[in-house]
Amino acid sequence: MSSDARKPLISGNWKMHLNHFEAIQLVQKLNYLVTKEDFDAVDVSLHPPFTDIRSVQTLIEADELRFLLGAQHCHFEEKGAFTGEVAPSMLAKLSVKYVIVGHSERREIFGETDEMVANKTTSILKAAMTPIVCVGETLEEREAGSTESKVIGQVRSALAKRAPDTVSKLVIAYEPIWAIGTGRTATAADAQAVCGAIRGEVRASHGNEAARALRIQYGGSVKAGNIAELMAQPDIDGALVGGASLDPDEFARIVKYRLHAA
Ligand code: 13P
Repeated sequence: MSSDARKPLISGNWKMHLNHFEAIQLVQKLNYLVTKEDFDAVDVSLHPPFTDIRSVQTLIEADELRFLLGAQHCHFEEKGAFTGEVAPSMLAKLSVKYVIVGHSERREIFGETDEMVANKTTSILKAAMTPIVCVGETLEEREAGSTESKVIGQVRSALAKRAPDTVSKLVIAYEPIWAIGTGRTATAADAQAVCGAIRGEVRASHGNEAARALRIQYGGSVKAGNIAELMAQPDIDGALVGGASLDPDEFARIVKYRLHAA
């Protein structure tokens, strides 16, 4: 069980799916299924593509929905000649609360480095939003026994030189790359081992308070059928959900994991 101090965060990363009409439909369907009690128990963030964010924001504000608006990516600079990019302050102006940083797809397909991830984390914090910093190993790294060194290295790089009270506000998402979109999930015990190591690293680098408050999500083929067991682990405080977040019934069942115990 997560400690009371850490409210679970279930995030839906829609990736490059759904235009703004489809996005509105999905949010409306989800809102029928997710109750006040669910929102009291769990924070739920939705991360649409950029072109949908304004529409989803308008719906959330007009109907006073409790979904938290998220983005999938941003640049670390505030402005400039960066064709196609979006600045953190532009997202903040749309009431975006959470921004995913360093997703493995951004790292692997678009060449994002640890340094860029650290810079983005700084810029997102500066714009008063919460970064969800993604870390995770490839299948080769897991098989070579280097899961922890890879993941801890990524965590160190993202957290270096930050004050403990800043680190306590962050979200780290452990997403083993081999489990993303493959239907393969880390066992709850394996996911816990890595999430526990992440919290241990934060305790060593930034102290007990930061380690106690920081939220750690698991991501990689999370479904209604495996969420309860994952959430029962002491160091897993939420989930970053890809494919299953596009299906309102499935995603609502994930949000309601506490009603179908592990
Ligand atoms: P899937 O849930 O589709 O495996 O995606 C996980 C993910 O990458 C979320 O960011």
